[in-house]
Amino acid sequence: MTHTISSDETTYIALADAVSPLPILTPPHPTLRQKARLVQPEDIPNIQAVLPSLFAAMYKAPGIGLAAPQVGISQRFLIIDLGQKEDSSIPPIIMINPEIIQESEEMAEREEGCLSLPSQYAAVVRPESIRVKWTTITGETREYEADGLFARCIQHEIDHLNGVLFVDHLSALRRNMILRRLSKKLKQS
Ligand code: NI
Repeated sequence: MTHTISSDETTYIALADAVSPLPILTPPHPTLRQKARLVQPEDIPNIQAVLPSLFAAMYKAPGIGLAAPQVGISQRFLIIDLGQKEDSSIPPIIMINPEIIQESEEMAEREEGCLSLPSQYAAVVRPESIRVKWTTITGETREYEADGLFARCIQHEIDHLNGVLFVDHLSALRRNMILRRLSKKLKQS
């Protein structure tokens, strides 16, 4: 099954201009370190209500992905919009309860940043391609084989649903260096 743009995403993105962006959490906020719970059907109305402000937060930053825990919602959903970066054939996407069901043996190194770790970047090694399964906002199941930047972004955002930050993929030395530098920067501002 291939992923084609759905009118659902377009609807929420169109509303993003009219709402206030949600503030994005930074460490040591505990929600960033929690395993988020599965979205249940009864959560959907609240998620629909929050999606425009979630897109607004991502576009304001600007960033190419944002997971619910980063705005203090400990539930398993995320948004991605690669925009014009690298592969513009990938439309904006909302993933509910996403799950990586297959990973390539081939690994790739790529520089990552994170809206919860502003101005911090590091090269992270992850599988080059993945197969991901998720539920759409209208309750349909989708599966897609992603590679390159899209695969990278999905893995990074799903990490957030498990309380994992990209720095956790680095050595303790590098991780602590980045987190110390960030905490100094956040105290100054
Ligand atoms: Ni992130």
